[in-house]
Amino acid sequence: MRRYMVAGNWKMNMGPAAGRELAAGVAGMLKGRTLRGDVLVCPPYVSIPAVGEVADGNPVLLGAQNCADQTGGAYTGEVSVGMLKEVGVQYVIIAHSERREYQRETDSQFVSKINLILEAGMKAIFCFGEVLEDRKAGRAEEVVRKQLEGVLPRLENANAYNLVLAYEPVWAIGTGETATPEMAQEIHAASRAIVAELMGAEVAEYLRILYGGSCKPGNARELIGQPDVDGGLIGGAALKPADFVGIIDGAEATLD
Ligand code: PGA
Repeated sequence: MRRYMVAGNWKMNMGPAAGRELAAGVAGMLKGRTLRGDVLVCPPYVSIPAVGEVADGNPVLLGAQNCADQTGGAYTGEVSVGMLKEVGVQYVIIAHSERREYQRETDSQFVSKINLILEAGMKAIFCFGEVLEDRKAGRAEEVVRKQLEGVLPRLENANAYNLVLAYEPVWAIGTGETATPEMAQEIHAASRAIVAELMGAEVAEYLRILYGGSCKPGNARELIGQPDVDGGLIGGAALKPADFVGIIDGAEATLD
């Protein structure tokens, strides 16, 4: 049985003060509850310490949205995995579609970053997913295969517990348009089969694959209830405590 994960990707929202308030809101709503899955928030770099103070001692894990592909030195504007570890980061999101698109990040960079994260004893969430054009042309699975094949075989110490995948159809991110549960399940099952080919059947069985793209309280239960969907990577709905906790409730409900 795979443990669900609900991860909030705050993107470029919530400075330290607002982030602390948001995290406190979530923590307050979860207080006293025993969750059967993992809950993670990924604030912007500068807000991580403030959120970490609030997250400390409650079930919310701390993540980052990116890291450098080098360990340190003359890389202006970059933040290393060692620095993230020092401020309590446990998970780092890599290859989000916005970074693929706006920063033109490549498979080689994803591989370097994930290897550094795992080497540092942290965990990575590797995002992948097709754009609308590919979906319309019936190429969604082909694109997903290419994205997974470009990275997974090159990872050095990845296993089912230090790596999480996140399928995020780009056309569903921030658009209010969600993949139907059937569409999500289809790609998740195909992705798991690809993981089995590339990393072995046992890794594929235990590795978590999250769904991301306009996930909200109203659709979380049905999406996360699909057999190969192990949780959600949440953007917009992670910015309001009630919505984020509503999605966690949806994930919990799949276990009842
Ligand atoms: P969204 O974003 O939930 O706002 O669609 C998801 C993501 O980009 O991770």
